Amino acid sequence: MTASTRNGYVPGRLTVHNDPAKLGGVTRALRGTGRKIVLIPTMGALHDGHRELIRHARRIPGAVVPVVSIFVNPLQFGAGEDLERYPRPLKADVDACREEGVELVLVPRAEDMYPPGSDTRVVAGPLGDELEGASRKGHFDGVLTVVSKLFHIVGPDVAMFGEKDYQQLTLVRRMVRDLYFPLDVVGVPTVREDDGLALSSRNAFLDAGQRRRAAVLHRALAAGASMSVRGPDAVLAAARAELAGEPEVDVDYLAVRGVDLGPPPDSGAARLLIAARFGATRLIDNTPITL
Ligand code: PAF
Repeated sequence: MTASTRNGYVPGRLTVHNDPAKLGGVTRALRGTGRKIVLIPTMGALHDGHRELIRHARRIPGAVVPVVSIFVNPLQFGAGEDLERYPRPLKADVDACREEGVELVLVPRAEDMYPPGSDTRVVAGPLGDELEGASRKGHFDGVLTVVSKLFHIVGPDVAMFGEKDYQQLTLVRRMVRDLYFPLDVVGVPTVREDDGLALSSRNAFLDAGQRRRAAVLHRALAAGASMSVRGPDAVLAAARAELAGEPEVDVDYLAVRGVDLGPPPDSGAARLLIAARFGATRLIDNTPITL
């Protein structure tokens, strides 16, 4: 029996694990065979944005084992957020993973990720309290805590994250650097609907009118980006003018930041970020700009 079959792993076939320890045993054995383990952490409700992450993972040169984790992480939801109503279409998610050539799926139970008394947390630091963190206290501590657990369980060589959650991507990169996780973090560009709306599992909550109005986020980012040579104030003014055309949009923040989400530079690469509510649904988006 080879290392790749000993733990029930069959190359090219998808296996779903609930037990983190078992999955960790499989990835450990596979690493010994020289294959690259690539983790795509998700909360499920997989859409084309997630499929794009998997496709990027499979395009990494060399022999790659794509691993998808599906876990709606209670620790990153605040009181009154959408933890209960967050979609959990597990069968469709597993089918999507199979279609995309994923070989290992981890669907851990909450009691395995957070056994009684497991009170240790990863703290995001000051950036965790800004932008998304300003209205979602503790959200990024919850994200970084679960992501670090997943990194330890799976032991990936590479982890893929979407650029739509740009602050999350930035904070994960920082955690990997600060805590010496031995892996590369790859950010994958946002996948959009035809009208520019960024794909998100939360888009499913929008009614028809909200869905139509939500395209203003992308239009505002594009309007802002078109003014980037004139500096941050012009970027923000152009984006605000576009948002003013959709009076029912409740904007939470609109900000120009550096690529590391610090203050924007005088010139060069930067990021324009937005968050807004459409009824009870809060959406985020961002775009690269050059000042
Ligand atoms: O982006 C997400 O889906 C989640 O925040 C993540 C990274 C899977 C952690 O729960």
